[in-house]
Formats: sequence, structure tokens, C-alpha cells
Amino acid sequence: MSTDDTTTETSTDTETSCGASDASNAAETATDTESDSKCGASTTDAEADGGVTSATGTATDADESTSTCGGSTSSSSSGCGSSKKSTTDEKVGSTVDDFEADPGRLVAVGLGPGQPEGMTQRARGALLDAEHIVGYTTYVELLPEEVTKSAAELYDTPMCGEVSRTEEAIDRALAGNDVAIIGSGDPNVYALAGLALEILESKGATASMVDFEVVPGIPAAQSCGARLGAPLVNDTVSISLSDHLTSMPTIESRLHAAAKEGFTIAIYNPWSRKRRENFQKCCEILMEHRAPDTPVGVVHGAGRDDEQVDIIELQELQELGETDLVDMTTTILVGNEETYVWDDRMVTPRGYESKYDY
Ligand SMILES: C[S@@+](CC[C@H](N)C(=O)[O-])C[C@H]1O[C@@H](n2cnc3c(N)ncnc32)[C@H](O)[C@@H]1O
Repeated sequence: MSTDDTTTETSTDTETSCGASDASNAAETATDTESDSKCGASTTDAEADGGVTSATGTATDADESTSTCGGSTSSSSSGCGSSKKSTTDEKVGSTVDDFEADPGRLVAVGLGPGQPEGMTQRARGALLDAEHIVGYTTYVELLPEEVTKSAAELYDTPMCGEVSRTEEAIDRALAGNDVAIIGSGDPNVYALAGLALEILESKGATASMVDFEVVPGIPAAQSCGARLGAPLVNDTVSISLSDHLTSMPTIESRLHAAAKEGFTIAIYNPWSRKRRENFQKCCEILMEHRAPDTPVGVVHGAGRDDEQVDIIELQELQELGETDLVDMTTTILVGNEETYVWDDRMVTPRGYESKYDY
């Protein structure tokens, strides 16, 4: 779901990197069950970024992987190139005038870290209520079976194509379906809640028209913080190292500002082979402002089967950029001047000790 990053690097997890491998998965799981969903001005070319799956999940022929409900006429070439041009080529196609039906609902649902037990009851309820669920293939695969069984249609696309995927969700809602667009963590954290509103506006629609709602989920920083102890209990900022939508000079400037002001820092999208320099630069900037022995928590795949957790010193961080621990499913939590490690837990005091005896 990310609007944050697009690289050509293959990743097994994040929607923020791109690869061709998931496209076939989507086609393979596409169903031959006829959908009775309401459809609008459909001309979407789903070859662009994925396919249509349904709750039954059995294979069908290639034609079935064409969207049945979108109004988009855009035919993105998956938006997975490493150049900015190729991703900004994704264009919004249909407008609100192309749809005749009474619009359905659109909810942006945060799944939390990944496992069903990490999802809120409200998110689960919103997904059970949705007729159509739209998302990045990995996240659709993480959905509990009760959710996938209850949906009339699942529309999943591989990495990238987040603009066309979001537009697909909107078009399905404008065509009269109740739609959930899903992503990991929270929809407000480097995710699609904002893009959904921007595309609705560009189509001449309104948020009220589709009763747009954001259903929050546990963001990665908090899931990872929980694994590490209590690293984030005081003022914290999050910074993404992806320069796909934010320039590297801006990222560097924000790193300097946060590091010198003593915030604890949650670093998202920390590393990929395509931009290992961003990670190196980040480590250099942190070392300019923080002591080499500052505690740093590194969590890979929080709440997933491949979860790994480590607490290191800041001076060791840079060399982790070439290991499996730090990739696009890792979040790094950098302690501040007061953070310490006690009994294998990171602790950032909030200041109680200066006011109370305990
Ligand atoms: C595009 S952002 C999406 C963030 C998400 N909306 C959230 O609220 O956490 C993707 C980044 O989130 C972080 N992330 C997502 N899931 C994670 C997990 N299970 N464990 C650790 N980090 C994760 C990684 O830094 C990854 O590069």
C-alpha cells in the first residue's frame, strides 16, 4: 500500500518494493466464480498490476484477472520501475461522472503487524463487512480465513502500482460496492489513507460520497517497540529512508533535526540494495549527534513468522545494512541520550525518576 517507496528490488514482504513474482500468484489464485458485484465504468487493465481473486481462491483463465469493477482507464505498467517517471506515470482514469450507481463505502483498514491476533476488533469487523477487499498481495495473504471467506471479491496486486490499486478500490466503491483497502500497520503511517483522499478529490468525488473511513492499526514502530521493551515512551519521530517520494536532502535534513534534538527515532524503510547509500548516510548522521554506544533496537518482521529482534549499539548499525536483519521489513528504533538497556530490554525514561521515589 505504500506511497512511500518503489524500487525494482524483489522483496518478500513490503509493498514498498517491487518485483514481478507476485503477479503470477495473483493470477494463479484468481477464481472462476462469477461475481455478482456492482460494476461501474469498467475498462481497467488489470494486467498492469495484478489480478482479481475471490474468496474461493481457485484458479481461472487469464481473462478473469481483469478487473470487473474499476472505472479506471489507466494502464500502468505496474509502476515498478526505479525511476520516478515510471511510477508517476500512473494516472487516474475515470471521474465520478462515469459511475451511475449509488456509491458504496470505502474504508482504509490497517492490519497491524501481520498476524490475525495483531489486528484490532474494529479492523476485523470492517473487513468482515466489506464486499470487496483490495490490497498488496502479501497483505491479502495475511488476512484470516474468515475474512477472505466472507468477502465477495479479493483484488490483490503485487508490489508497487499503489496508485492504480487505490484507484481500483475507489472505483469499486463508486460503482456501488462496500470496499476495504488494506495495508500493514496503520493507514496513516506511510500508507494509503492520504492517497485515497487525494484520488477521490481528483475524480471530482467527495469523501462523504463513499462514507470514507480510516480504521487504525498498530503501526510498525509500536509493534517493534513492544518487542524491545519500552524504547518509545517519550517524544519520538518517525523517518522513512525511502527517497522515492521524499528527496534525500530532505530526509537528511530531518535526520539531523531529529537526532540533535534528542528524540527517539523510528526509522522506516531502512534499507534496500538499490539504495544502500541512504542507510549509510543515515548511520553517519546519527553518529554525528549521538554517542556510539546509544542503544538501537532492530526488529525484522514484527509479528511475522520470520521475526528477528536485536539490540545493538549505534556504532554497530552500519554493518547490519548488509545482513538479513535489516531490509524492507525492518524498523529500527534509535534510542536517545537517556535510553539504556536493562535485562535485554530497551528503556527510555520518561522522567518519572526525577519526580518520584521508586
Ligand atoms: C510503507 S511502510 C508501511 C508502514 C505501516 N503503514 C505501518 O503503520 O507500520 C513499510 C515499512 O514499515 C515497516 N514495517 C512494516 N511492517 C513491519 C513489521 N512487521 N516489522 C517491522 N517493520 C515493519 C518497515 O520499516 C517497512 O519498510
